[in-house]
Amino acid sequence: MTLLDGKSLSAKIEKDLAVEIQKISEKGITPGLAVILVGNDPASCAYVGMKAKACKRVGIYSVTHEMPSTITQDELLSVIDILNHNPNIDGILVQLPLPKHIDSEKILEAIDPKKDVDGFHPFNIGRLSANLDAFIPATPLGVMRLLKAYEIEVSGKDVAIVGMSNIVGKPLASLMLNAGATVSLCHILTRDVAAYTRNADIVCVGVGKVGLITADMVKQGAIVIDIGINRLDSGAIVGDVDFANVAPKTSYITPVPGGVGPMTIATLLQNTLKAAKNRSDSRKGI
Ligand code: GUN
Repeated sequence: MTLLDGKSLSAKIEKDLAVEIQKISEKGITPGLAVILVGNDPASCAYVGMKAKACKRVGIYSVTHEMPSTITQDELLSVIDILNHNPNIDGILVQLPLPKHIDSEKILEAIDPKKDVDGFHPFNIGRLSANLDAFIPATPLGVMRLLKAYEIEVSGKDVAIVGMSNIVGKPLASLMLNAGATVSLCHILTRDVAAYTRNADIVCVGVGKVGLITADMVKQGAIVIDIGINRLDSGAIVGDVDFANVAPKTSYITPVPGGVGPMTIATLLQNTLKAAKNRSDSRKGI
């Protein structure tokens, strides 16, 4: 069993990014990311803080707009409009979830697709689904980069994904399909999840349920990607996989923490650089 070490891979990606960002900055384009945080959900605050720190490490200019949870939808839309027109901002990220009185879909659709570094705008979702160049959500793209770094072939494999969120499961299914895998996307109404995971060469799970994937649900030699993040009462962070019992059966497995999580941040930084490069190219009239 080999651990898929997202922590060291993301550190390497950040190092390479810092060099590239330095170069593009010398040409007068400093990548800029605007993060919008509504309310003070502790997990969201922690994620936004990690994203801002990571930007700083690689030389991306970042600004966090902290909004009260009482902000109206129209007020939030006007903040996005201003950022859409701000030439120093290449990427706009609205941290989810948003308060219930705000229509998240409407907010995500208001982001200029060229600045949609989260890849949540229907324009980018559609392009990903059609296997065209697009901004791809950071977590599933991080999973693909991790597999690639360990030279794990996806083409022709049977992949079971558990969890069909717009942020992780659905875009991951598109990426896996585009890479030539046969994909089963399991969700809350799936009658027998184990029937799919047991036959899969690669099992990916991200639903936020401790111990969901047990050893009997995974075949010998499978690759297991744990995208869950759960905080136990003890304060420990664990994924959705019963790691102690599942790991010995696998050929590769991601640890939590230190697997997919750090890759998500590194990929967001890459997406922001991609947006800045697009800005640079459009200035040249390409
Ligand atoms: N909330 C949980 N994951 C994410 C993410 O990847 N992007 C945003 N914007 N919000 C999230």
